[in-house]
Amino acid sequence: MITKLLTAETLDEAVFWLQKGEPVGIPTETVYGLGCNAFDAAAVCKVFAAKGRPMDNPLIVHIADKAEWQPLVREIPPLAHALADRFWPGPLTIILPKSDLIPAETAGGLQTVGVRFPAHPLAQEIIRKVGVPIAAPSANRSGSPSPTTAAHVMADMNGRIPAVVDGGRCFCGIESTVIAFDDADTVRVLRPGFVTAEQLAEIAPKVIVDDAVLAKLEEGKAAPSPGMKYRHYSPNAQVIMLNGDAETVAKYISLRFSHGDCALVYDSDRALYHSDAVYGYGDTDESRGAQLFARLREMDELGFSRIFVRAPRTDGVGLAVYNRLLRAAGYDVRDTAAKIYLVGLTGQTGAGKTTVSEVFATHGFAVINADTIARDVVQAGSACLAEITQAFGESLLLADGTLDRKQSAKLIFSDADAKKRYESIIFPHITKAVFNAIDAHAAEGRHRILLDAPTLFESGLHTACDYIVSVVADEQDRLQRIMQRDGISAEVAVARIASQHTEEFFCSHTDAVLKNHGTVLDLVSQAKLLIARLPDMN
Ligand code: TXA
Ligand code: MG
Repeated sequence: MITKLLTAETLDEAVFWLQKGEPVGIPTETVYGLGCNAFDAAAVCKVFAAKGRPMDNPLIVHIADKAEWQPLVREIPPLAHALADRFWPGPLTIILPKSDLIPAETAGGLQTVGVRFPAHPLAQEIIRKVGVPIAAPSANRSGSPSPTTAAHVMADMNGRIPAVVDGGRCFCGIESTVIAFDDADTVRVLRPGFVTAEQLAEIAPKVIVDDAVLAKLEEGKAAPSPGMKYRHYSPNAQVIMLNGDAETVAKYISLRFSHGDCALVYDSDRALYHSDAVYGYGDTDESRGAQLFARLREMDELGFSRIFVRAPRTDGVGLAVYNRLLRAAGYDVRDTAAKIYLVGLTGQTGAGKTTVSEVFATHGFAVINADTIARDVVQAGSACLAEITQAFGESLLLADGTLDRKQSAKLIFSDADAKKRYESIIFPHITKAVFNAIDAHAAEGRHRILLDAPTLFESGLHTACDYIVSVVADEQDRLQRIMQRDGISAEVAVARIASQHTEEFFCSHTDAVLKNHGTVLDLVSQAKLLIARLPDMN
């Protein structure tokens, strides 16, 4: 099927298809809808099929005159009339018990129907010309961000429907506010939108925002609105939602930013960033609402794999934007102001870092071992290993596709340029994995973290630390220890030690230096003393 792009001038062709029982993409002021004759069960089924939508998720029925509402529902209570008079035509969907005119397919098997009188002139013209109410879900493939331009509809529906009417960019950019009534005086907001809870409260005696708007629905609990059950609005990229003020969010993002990442922040925040991959999505809740879905789609098109988004506040239209973001992020929302106390532990090979890190672990610190992470990031099939192979060829790989550590160590220790290139590939991957580990600990409420990293300075991770401890020891002791521990010759051990920072370096670059005099007990008690004296962790 070839999907034709129609305009206001060729809109009659859309009317033709709709009257024939075919689904058509139509503009509204919220998002584009995938319309069909609301009374025609077969046409409704085609909409479900084109969207890939579960059949138990009901469609909203669109009318072009308030008078068309009465026959669709059993009764219209006074409060519903009052709300319609105030907000229609506009982005408000009102759920009431349905009449027999609405087929079970349209209602997703429920006994209720959501009705909306859209404000977009082309939507109104289409509905009027077709002569019946138009059932229309958002015109995206189920699960992906709702379409706010005709091009978005084309991207999702090309070949699946006969036509899309181009009515320009949607004014709101997020779907309508969906409400139901708990009783004669009480409005329940099932989905927030441009008609805000505050505005509803100007008319309704009582307004309740349903729990599912801001929280994950509990497993097994019935959804007041079937759409709440399903994953929604998700781009292909991972979305991470960030709460906090401009500066705190900027610091959080900047520390974690790596290849494949982008950020959506407030327009006025952009000056705080130095990366091209940071985009504004507006400076008011309304403008963020208008741009959110388009931006998420754009980030996918640009090939980003991770999107950090600065969340809006949850009042006014901000609640709607926040709600869509939560679901796009799969509820991965982080408080950037939650203070993590990160201690960096570094020092010379064989000086006794492991002993010190064990002391931190027994004193409540979550320990992240950068060496373990460094091994993980070059696993067979990893993006990092692919980059290494691209830069240095297959010679660094073993037959089973894993990194040949001997060969790579040889390369790094023999050629300064190669070392630089090698490190410029692996450090960003290590840094990203370290921050993932930090964030995972923080999510579990562990805020005191020790990062054990021999290359703390080389990788740049030192800049993220609140406090840095180093461990040093006499060269002879270290030589013995690493020859024994790693089973290497004196020659290799000497070369390895020579490539490391000197004691003077650590003395001038770290907050505390622990000198290992050769007895474990002494080192342990130095470490304990240090932990007891660590500066304020709040
Ligand atoms: O702005 C909008 O509302 C757009 C445009 C096209 O009008 N339409 C839209 O439809 O967003 P859709 O199907 O993508 O989202 C409708 C939401 C779903 O979450 C659905 O579960 C809920 O409204 N809904 C519809 N009828 C309902 C009902 N009778 N009871 C409870 N929830 C209902
Ligand atoms: Mg939808």
